[in-house]
Amino acid sequence: MKNITTFNFSLGREERNKLNAHNSFVVWFTGLSGSGKSTLANMVEKLLYEQEVRTFVLDGDSLRSGLNKDLNFSAKEREENLRVAAEVAKLLVSSGSVVLASFISPQQANRETAKDIIGEEDFIEVFVNTSLETCEKRDVKGLYKKARAGEIKNFTGIDSPYEKPVNPDIEINTEKENLEEAANRIIKLLRKKLEIK
Ligand code: ADX
Repeated sequence: MKNITTFNFSLGREERNKLNAHNSFVVWFTGLSGSGKSTLANMVEKLLYEQEVRTFVLDGDSLRSGLNKDLNFSAKEREENLRVAAEVAKLLVSSGSVVLASFISPQQANRETAKDIIGEEDFIEVFVNTSLETCEKRDVKGLYKKARAGEIKNFTGIDSPYEKPVNPDIEINTEKENLEEAANRIIKLLRKKLEIK
């Protein structure tokens, strides 16, 4: 990049991981609005906390109310939202945290960009596979009703597409398994990666 040189800091991720006695990486939850991504991320975070793992949750609603408040829901601006989210997640990984990132991230290309930014070895993709029918029936935030009424444009699943992940590391079917079981299944997957000392 033009006129930018990076300073070589003495302390990096390796030292921080050593200090924390565990590895750091990103668990990326993708799925429709209301699929249960943030609820699951919250449960996984609590379980990790009990194991003295340093964590941080990043989610669409919180990022979009601050850092990304100028971005809308067009395909282009979602892409930018997710690029920023992935860059923040990457910083948090070098700070030593296990990052639980909860974003609709509707397109395969969005998730691939995130994976490229974060690095394949530090990216675990969790597909929260809850059907549109169920999300719409639950309508926790009342947004599906508004989208159907035409009050919200470009709503994922209604008038904006959601592409299912091609090869997620783990798939959760919230209609078939309860959230606690699902969270435990994710923890099991993370155990090896954490390398808790
Ligand atoms: S993403 O597509 O760019 O990954 P993100 O996860 O940040 O989306 O934000 C999704 C949240 O924004 C939803 O859970 C919902 O609360 C809210 N939202 C507002 N408008 C929309 C919309 N048009 N499509 C989807 N979610 C929306």
